[in-house]
Amino acid sequence: MARRKKIRAKKRFFVFCLILFIVVILCVAGIAKLLSGGESENTGNQEHNSAIDQQTQENAPPEIPVVTSEDGTPALSAAVIPGTEYLYESARIIANPESYTCIVNRSYNLPSDYVPSDLVKVSVPFAPRMEEVKYMREDASKALTQMFDAAMEEGGYALYGASGYRSFKLQQSLFNTNVGRKGSIEQANLVSALPGQSEHQLGLAMDITSESMGYSLTEDFYNTPEGKWVTDNCYRFGFIIRYPADKTDITGYLYEPWHCRYVGTELAKQLYESGQTLEEYYGLA
Ligand code: DAL
Ligand code: ZN
Repeated sequence: MARRKKIRAKKRFFVFCLILFIVVILCVAGIAKLLSGGESENTGNQEHNSAIDQQTQENAPPEIPVVTSEDGTPALSAAVIPGTEYLYESARIIANPESYTCIVNRSYNLPSDYVPSDLVKVSVPFAPRMEEVKYMREDASKALTQMFDAAMEEGGYALYGASGYRSFKLQQSLFNTNVGRKGSIEQANLVSALPGQSEHQLGLAMDITSESMGYSLTEDFYNTPEGKWVTDNCYRFGFIIRYPADKTDITGYLYEPWHCRYVGTELAKQLYESGQTLEEYYGLA
């Protein structure tokens, strides 16, 4: 009898130990799961946060690299036209003029001695008497040729180049001529950039016209089939209409439906779709 009791007690003890063992295992597994669940949630958050950081960075406007003088103040363009010094006062010199997406405007200028490294003579038809200005940077020139060919193939439109690369000196003389024509520096500066402030010095801009315009550059170009085609299609070849009709307060210049600036196809498409100017893209407006 006593032996049976002993055996039963042993059995109970064994079952108790087994249950205890199972309970401990389950608890440990539960705690481990909780911990690992928490960790994966953290990892998820970290990934989420880094995605947001990345998104924020992507949405932040690109920085504009500028040349600074030794004492930290931005270098200024030489004011080469008497009376225009104040128009250069807050301008900085960009450090990346060879970048297709760089910005040149009243606030971000080119060094007076900047000449693009790969200028080539553009092989498109030109408006008469435009010998000096048939050059562009190589990729921009290729893209322009493709655009002119497409205009002819797709719409039968004959486009003509009117003004491509212009040196600092040529821009200086054009600006002076415009001061004479318009009567004041301020009026001239609505249609003509000061030397150091023109995209034509980048070798990435081309003014485009047509025979029906008498090869002139006026707002009416937009109302011609050629001008409409350029406005609607230039982005496909990496160009933007740099000075749109309703953005004078942002760009500083009156509407120029003829002035095409090469920025590469990616940015051109983005700006065409968003309707942004380069100033807006760089967060300057
Ligand atoms: N007409 C444009 C603004 C230029 O002179 O570059
Ligand atoms: Zn132009």
